[in-house]
Amino acid sequence: MEVYQPAEDSYMFAEFLEDYFEDNKDVSYLDMGCGSGILGKKALDCGVKEVLSVDINPEAVEEAGKKGIKAIASDLFENVSGGFDVISFNAPYLPLDEREPEGSRLATTGGEKGDEAAVRFLEEAKKHLAKNGRIFLLISSLTPMDKIKEFGGKVVVRKRIFGEDLIVLEYNNA
Ligand SMILES: C[S@@+](CC[C@H](N)C(=O)[O-])C[C@H]1O[C@@H](n2cnc3c(N)ncnc32)[C@H](O)[C@@H]1O
Repeated sequence: MEVYQPAEDSYMFAEFLEDYFEDNKDVSYLDMGCGSGILGKKALDCGVKEVLSVDINPEAVEEAGKKGIKAIASDLFENVSGGFDVISFNAPYLPLDEREPEGSRLATTGGEKGDEAAVRFLEEAKKHLAKNGRIFLLISSLTPMDKIKEFGGKVVVRKRIFGEDLIVLEYNNA
């Protein structure tokens, strides 16, 4: 399976997280859907004390591991235990497009409608969030929002890019 290589969404999220970690280094960080490991590596470079990267794609886990990040294979939180101060997910957020090659679908397609991976993530993430922790989820204006809105959250970044808005939502324990 192809490993998702950093693109505009990755760079925007990395920049956002860099700013966040600047003032919050003493945290444990779970990098869900790590792909190449760009976000986990950014956290390590920022001095974050504990980083765990997770991906369903074993090749992504291997690639992140080569960057010196502790990484495990897991379907979302299936193999994850314990709580984290910061959890992020640059989710696969696009609706299914049959023309998309199967090898790259896992990284880009959130499910038939596009919101399935993000919704599954939101259903589980708070169980792994430490007290006063933060969840950051990156989706797009192309992702259906009706179910995602039910989880609350606030928009902390919105950036127009190639005909879509990239959106980072923030959630806490409240
Ligand atoms: C848009 S890519 C983001 C990759 C990387 N974080 C970045 O910003 O460049 C989404 C990633 O989520 C992973 N993924 C998709 N479904 C997943 C699941 N159920 N559990 C864990 N990871 C998943 C994909 O393999 C892919 O690496």
